[in-house]
Amino acid sequence: MRVVRTVAALRTGLADAPRPIALVPTMGGLHEGHLELVRHARAQSATLVVSIFVNPAQFAADEDLDAYPRDERRDAELAREAGADLFFAPGVEEVYPPGFDTTVEVGGLTRELEGDPAQRGSEHFRGVAIVVAKLFNMVGPDVALFGQKDAQQALVIRRLVRDLDFPVRVDVLPTVRDDDGLALSSRNVYLSAGERERALALSRGLRAAEGLVAAGELDAERVVAAARDELEAGGLEPDYLELRSAEDLSVVARVNGSTLLCVAARVGPARLIDNVILRAPEQPVPSPPVTRSSP
Ligand code: PAJ
Repeated sequence: MRVVRTVAALRTGLADAPRPIALVPTMGGLHEGHLELVRHARAQSATLVVSIFVNPAQFAADEDLDAYPRDERRDAELAREAGADLFFAPGVEEVYPPGFDTTVEVGGLTRELEGDPAQRGSEHFRGVAIVVAKLFNMVGPDVALFGQKDAQQALVIRRLVRDLDFPVRVDVLPTVRDDDGLALSSRNVYLSAGERERALALSRGLRAAEGLVAAGELDAERVVAAARDELEAGGLEPDYLELRSAEDLSVVARVNGSTLLCVAARVGPARLIDNVILRAPEQPVPSPPVTRSSP
């Protein structure tokens, strides 16, 4: 595995690289969630690029940019073990040189949920969109892999790719969880043992909703209430807990087809997000009416 820090070195490293090229963009602090993306990417690419860049553009002034876990040596070792060919770790000035003055804005999707001004705000997704667009142009991947853990981000990136005709396939992989249900996140390192215990109410809430839907309850209010009860029982007051269309994040009154239950909550110093895709149980297919052909 080669470690590269500049776009020029990256391009040299990729000049004769066999295709398909896969890209797994990350902000480091690698955990099994990231590594699943890397292993999956390895299995379907001839050349695999893992990028690590803690992107200042997607952090608001009051967020955890300075505290964000950074351990490049460990990340590089994990990426190497998982099969990366190139480890792209640019500095801030390589990505945003002096005078950088361009933005990429995906519309309505970025104003919902995390993009609400009361949450992280749409500026967060502007920061994600610009850096992902730049990484796509720097690497020129055939496939890029993202996690369902950040469901809204995955939708925003799919829209970005579609609207700007990036010649890349976007694969979104399921959320990887610890054995106790907690969704893996680089931000989990902020949690004390007690806070980590409290954070489990997030996945318990999502599971309660899932259970209710599996039992046939499709009413949004009742499904959300089941999750809310679990959160409150665990002492968590969510920033939001909402049932949305998994396609465009529109509000839904009933679980139908593919629906997303999304939650965000503060647990001690960490702001955690999680979600689950809820699917209405399959209806038994009615047997076709018996028709009798006329003699
Ligand atoms: P980061 O939070 O480091 O996540 C990198 C990728 O790993 C994202 O696609 C994210 O959805 C995925 N991921 C994180 N936790 C996961 C889990 N438990 N299971 C499965 N996948 C998981 O997301 C970002 O970085 C940044 O916004 C980025 C896209 C790199 C742009 O800066």
